[in-house]
Amino acid sequence: MSDAWWRRAVIYEVYPRSFADGNGDGDGDLRGLRARLPYLRDLGVDGIWIAPWYPSPMADGGYDVSDFTGIHPLFGELADADAVIAEAHALGLRVITDMVANHTSIEHPWFAAALAAGPGSPERARYLFRDGRGDSGEEPPTNWISAFGGSAWTRITEANGAPGQWYLHLFAEEQPDLNWSDEAVRADFDRILRFWFDRGVDGMRIDAAPALAKAPAFPDADYGGDPRFVTIRWVGNPHWDVDAVHEVFRRFRGVADEYADRIFVAEAVVSSAERLAAYLGPDEMQTAFNFPYLKSAWDADALRSVIDDTLEQFVPIGVPPTWVTSSHDEVRLRTRFGRRTTSSAHFADGQGEAVDLELGLRRSRASALLTFALPGTAYLYQGEELGLPEVDDLPDGSITDPVFRRTGGETRGRDGCRVPMPWSGDEPPYGFSPDGITTWLPQPSGWDGLTVAAEEADPGSMLRLVRDALALRRSVPGLLGDEFRWVGRRDGVLEFDRGGGFTCVVNLSGSVVPIDATRPVLLASTAPVDGLLPNDAAAWLSR
Ligand code: NOJ
Repeated sequence: MSDAWWRRAVIYEVYPRSFADGNGDGDGDLRGLRARLPYLRDLGVDGIWIAPWYPSPMADGGYDVSDFTGIHPLFGELADADAVIAEAHALGLRVITDMVANHTSIEHPWFAAALAAGPGSPERARYLFRDGRGDSGEEPPTNWISAFGGSAWTRITEANGAPGQWYLHLFAEEQPDLNWSDEAVRADFDRILRFWFDRGVDGMRIDAAPALAKAPAFPDADYGGDPRFVTIRWVGNPHWDVDAVHEVFRRFRGVADEYADRIFVAEAVVSSAERLAAYLGPDEMQTAFNFPYLKSAWDADALRSVIDDTLEQFVPIGVPPTWVTSSHDEVRLRTRFGRRTTSSAHFADGQGEAVDLELGLRRSRASALLTFALPGTAYLYQGEELGLPEVDDLPDGSITDPVFRRTGGETRGRDGCRVPMPWSGDEPPYGFSPDGITTWLPQPSGWDGLTVAAEEADPGSMLRLVRDALALRRSVPGLLGDEFRWVGRRDGVLEFDRGGGFTCVVNLSGSVVPIDATRPVLLASTAPVDGLLPNDAAAWLSR
């Protein structure tokens, strides 16, 4: 297997609006990110993935793009993006950007042109406009649902004032889906990919990859009785993971291969490791997020089987496994693991359940050691290195996630994991912005012990654990290789060797378990006592 950087990297996800505010307006920006790049180098990650930084009305946190080759004025300008790329590279960090190719914003000039040009026009052919059903077209063209709740279709008013066609949006109505059967769309994205590769980005994460193709006849979908968008259970769905999607990614790969060592990471939530493997390989994407791992319950059997499936599926085809536990779309791990429901098939799962944050932190620490000990690439979402909890009591009026609005407030949405990072100090804005500035999402009181400064000073903090783990990952021979072998099989215990005398033991059994007391403990999430590893703890052992 080649030793390309992306085969065993740790990639840190930056959500730019919430990472660091460099101009003091309460929103994160690229100047703030530049100032904190040394923090990321010292944390020990190999690269960053930056969530969308493009001009956008922010109807979906920047995933509604109105210009694919610009930078949102909130974040800066193109020169700032160039500086982020250059300065990250100078620090030895790779840069992955976010490519949102399934849809645009309704404010994209292509959509404005499509509305103006009328039915049957080439401008309209860039999107998925259809006539409605019913006597006067008053019913949506299909029963397809939006990921954020409600119908996936919105009806427009034509230029002459009459009720008109419907357009498809698998996400919010402000995010019309592009028609990837249209050559004009394909050619435009060739140009967009080259624009960013020419500027030096090392890779792109492909947003909502399985959405890009739809069954040509637009049949109604059978959601199997669940009215929610739960793609992890969908097989044979007409608007998700349709095989024609792979033509698009083969073309993307052709563009990437015009450059040296540029990669794609698929964001593809599909029903099996086998379906995911179809997105990967020498003529499509190099790597993909591992959602089954992310969505797994904190349960030894479930984790063992997802680890086995991942390794069985990817290793033989030469694709590096990836291990992801969190993102800007997920409930913070500390909160999720402190609830009764620890799996996450849908963002509403576990919502409203009681949370034990101490338990959640213990498990997140153990999960970090498990994740960083597995062979392949790992992803770390900003703030997870601090053990931040979900902010689940944001005032309704501050919530921006379209999920909240589209479900009539029933699902709180994802803003609770997007609250600005606490850097220092005892009260909001915790060094995110200058004192006295209100951040775009309010930070809670009580985060003074969770700031970067506080955790740097505390040897027992999550930050110090993550830093130590990432330093060992770069120096312990077993962790640098590809070996992986389960050791024994004790109920509720995950135990594996990575070669070179390195073993990781994770205890989810509900009681203490013995570990080999003669072997030095390199690192532990909760210290073993007298050769006994506590429950919800992990330890790294050397020879
Ligand atoms: C996945 C992104 O991570 C999420 O934040 C976004 O809402 C959807 N794709 C739609 O672009």
